Amino acid sequence: MIVEDHVLRNDWIVACKIEDVKDEPLQVAIMGERVVFFRNDKGIHAFKDLCIHRGAALSLGCVRDGKLVCPYHGWEYNSEGACTKIPQLPEGRSIPLKARAIKYACREAYGFVWINLNNNNPEMFSYPQFSDEKYRNIHWGPQQVHAKPPRVVENFLDVGHLSFIHEGYLGVQEHPVIGEYDVHTEDDRIYSDEIAIFQPDPDGTGVAKDVYYTYEILRPLTVLFTKRDPDSDNRMTILLTILPVDESKSIAYGIMSFNYETGTTDQETIEFQDMIFAQDKPIVENQKPEDLPLDLQVELSLKCDRMSIAYRQYLKRMGVTLGTD
Ligand code: FES
Ligand code: CO
Repeated sequence: MIVEDHVLRNDWIVACKIEDVKDEPLQVAIMGERVVFFRNDKGIHAFKDLCIHRGAALSLGCVRDGKLVCPYHGWEYNSEGACTKIPQLPEGRSIPLKARAIKYACREAYGFVWINLNNNNPEMFSYPQFSDEKYRNIHWGPQQVHAKPPRVVENFLDVGHLSFIHEGYLGVQEHPVIGEYDVHTEDDRIYSDEIAIFQPDPDGTGVAKDVYYTYEILRPLTVLFTKRDPDSDNRMTILLTILPVDESKSIAYGIMSFNYETGTTDQETIEFQDMIFAQDKPIVENQKPEDLPLDLQVELSLKCDRMSIAYRQYLKRMGVTLGTD
């Protein structure tokens, strides 16, 4: 079923990694719709995965001479979605103007392909680390979660769980108390102060100490986390962005950015993040209600949940309906 959330349909939604769109068309389920992505020398294009002739999935077809070819009767569509060839038409007959695919705005940024279902081409958020040569960037995901996107995002912004769910990795049970912090709103930016988190081994030297976490909300389904080591000023930033598959399923993607030598390979870094995410997954998949309550009276928050509260208030202000209540 199509998810009618106009805030998200007006936004850029992550669809896949750029490298996932190869020579063959690719189907991605986005907000209850099947979308086909294909590549030609003009770039990557996104259409509703539906041929107007008999409803075949265009993603089962192929790309030939830059055109997307329907598998069923061979109709061909160009980058604009216009049908340029109907093999069954007798010679001399022109192609009906209605023979078109439904095209969506789509663009490449930060190593991902993004889609804008309402074709209003909004501004893309900025992630300066990606083009900063001081940073090493590693893509992470896809990771499927059977939970609604706002629950997944809020889990990422939650400081209080680190010493429990990620005990031994991102916190220790002897240090569960979170210090005071505020959340600030400036123009489009919503971000927290630095929050001191006691970690058992933040830099791989085996020495436990406080590091500083900051969180930032960029878009309804795109948020940032930065860890700073106060001694070295080493920074790691993780950008998390969620693809809403349908009413109840999410796919998480991320970029991990380091301004220091981690001593680990890309693969090891991804596996560590997968392991951390696997610790969160059963929690998020079993939270009730499944919709994130935007009425702050519904769940019982603590002061340290300020970032989550700011996220709920932001979703409410933006009018996000998918996965909220
Ligand atoms: Fe696509 Fe017939 S259904 S060409
Ligand atoms: Co977690």
